[in-house]
Amino acid sequence: MKVLVVGGGGREHALVWKLAQSPKVDKIFCAPGNAGIARLAECIDIASDDINALLDFAVKNRIDMTVVGPEAPLTAGLADRFAEAGLKVFGPAKRAAEIEGSKTLAKEIMEKYQIPTAKYRVFTEAAPAIEYIKKIGVPVVVKADGLAAGKGVIIAEDMDTALSAVKQIMEEKVFGAAGNKLLVEEFLEGEEVSVLAFSDGTCVVPMVSSQDHKRAYDNDQGPNTGGMGAYSPAPVYTTEMAEIVLEKILQPTIDGLKAEGRTYRGVIYAGLMITKDGPKVLEYNARFGDPEAQPVLMRLETDLVDIMESVLEGRLKQQEICWSPEAAVCVVLASGGYPGTYEKGKEIFGLNQNGPGSYAFHAGTAIKDAKIVTSGGRVLGVTARSASIEDAISAAYKEAEKINFAGVHYRRDIGAKALNRKR
Ligand code: AMP
Ligand code: GLY
Repeated sequence: MKVLVVGGGGREHALVWKLAQSPKVDKIFCAPGNAGIARLAECIDIASDDINALLDFAVKNRIDMTVVGPEAPLTAGLADRFAEAGLKVFGPAKRAAEIEGSKTLAKEIMEKYQIPTAKYRVFTEAAPAIEYIKKIGVPVVVKADGLAAGKGVIIAEDMDTALSAVKQIMEEKVFGAAGNKLLVEEFLEGEEVSVLAFSDGTCVVPMVSSQDHKRAYDNDQGPNTGGMGAYSPAPVYTTEMAEIVLEKILQPTIDGLKAEGRTYRGVIYAGLMITKDGPKVLEYNARFGDPEAQPVLMRLETDLVDIMESVLEGRLKQQEICWSPEAAVCVVLASGGYPGTYEKGKEIFGLNQNGPGSYAFHAGTAIKDAKIVTSGGRVLGVTARSASIEDAISAAYKEAEKINFAGVHYRRDIGAKALNRKR
C-alpha cells in the first residue's frame, strides 16, 4: 500500500520509521518531511496545513492511507475532506479534534461526563477575569482557549503574572484569536503523565505511558517548550492507576464524545496530573505527542498499519497490541536560543552512528548543499531502548554525545524523575 504521512517533525519521523517496518507498506510519502524522513520516504514540498494541496496529491497518487501527525490540519478538517473524497485517513474528524482545538469545549465535556479535571471559569472579557483571579488568589493557571502552539498556558505563581497574562491574552492578543476566550483554572499539584490511546470511536486501548519534559532547562527551569525529551514507561502510572484512568477518564471521554456526535477515531492523548486525589485531566490532544511518540513507538511491537486499519474499520477490540517490556528514552537536541529566537542552517555532525537499540529521529533538519543542517528549534530526538530506564538514559545520552552542531543545547536530566521515584 501507499501511505502519506502529514507533518515534518520528530513525531512524524517516528511514525514513518514504524510504518516503514510494515510488510504491508510499499511506499511512504511525507509532506513536508525532513532530512531524516527523506531516507525512508519521499518528501513532498507541501505544508502540513495546506489541505487542498494534500488532498490533490493524495487523489492523484492514489494514496491508500493518510496518517496525520500535527493538530492544525485535524482541527481544520483534513480528515473530513479526505473522507468526503473517499480516502482513508488516520486522525479524528474536525468535530472530534475540537477536544484539542477548544479548551472550553474539552472542559464542558469533562464537566458533563464527570471526568476529573481542575476547577475552572471561562471569560470573554478581561475585567471579570481579573476580578475573579483577585478573589481566588494565586497560584492560578491562565489559558487561551484556542490553539497556541503549546504556549497558551501561563502558570501564575504571583498576582502580577496572573493579571498580565489576562491582559496579554485578551487585550494584546498575543495568541491572536486563540485568546478570544480564556480559562482561569485551579492550579493542580502532582506529577504529570501522558497517556496516549488508540480509539475507534467506541473501544479505547491505552498505549504504554510516557512523560514529557516541557521546560527548556534542567530541573524544570526556564520557559515552556514543545518538549525537551520523554521517557516511557512513567513509574507514576502503575497498573492500578492505568485501570482508574481507563475507567474514569479515557472510556468516559470516548463515550461522551460519541454521545455528543463527535465520534473519535484516531489517537487521543490525555495529559494528566496525578494528584493526591487521583488523576485529573490537564488537556487532551487529538494526536500523538511530540516527543512522547518517539519512545512510545520504539516500544511498539505490533504492526502499526494493522492497528490503524482496525481503528478505521471499528474493530479495535479484536486487535492485539504488544509492547516491549523495555524502557525507552528520547533526548531532544535543540538549537541554541530555543524556545526563543535561534539561528538555522548549522551543519550537523556525527549522525549515522546509531548504536544498536537507538535511533536519532530528525525534527528540524534539512538538506542543504548535500549536508544535513538545522532548520528548526527542536532539531533531533535521540532515542534509545534498553532493559531498564537507567540503561535507556545512558544509551540515549551516549548517542546524543556523538552528535554536534553549533549552539546545540539539551537537557541533562531527562528521565531523572523516573529514577528518583524508583529509589
Ligand atoms: P496544557 O497545554 O493545558 O497541557 O498545559 C501545559 C502545561 O501547563 C501542562 O503540561 C502542565 O505542566 C501545566 N498545567 C496546565 N494546567 C495546569 C493546572 N491546572 N495545574 C497545574 N499545571 C498545569
Ligand atoms: N509533548 C506535548 C505535546 O505533544 O503536546
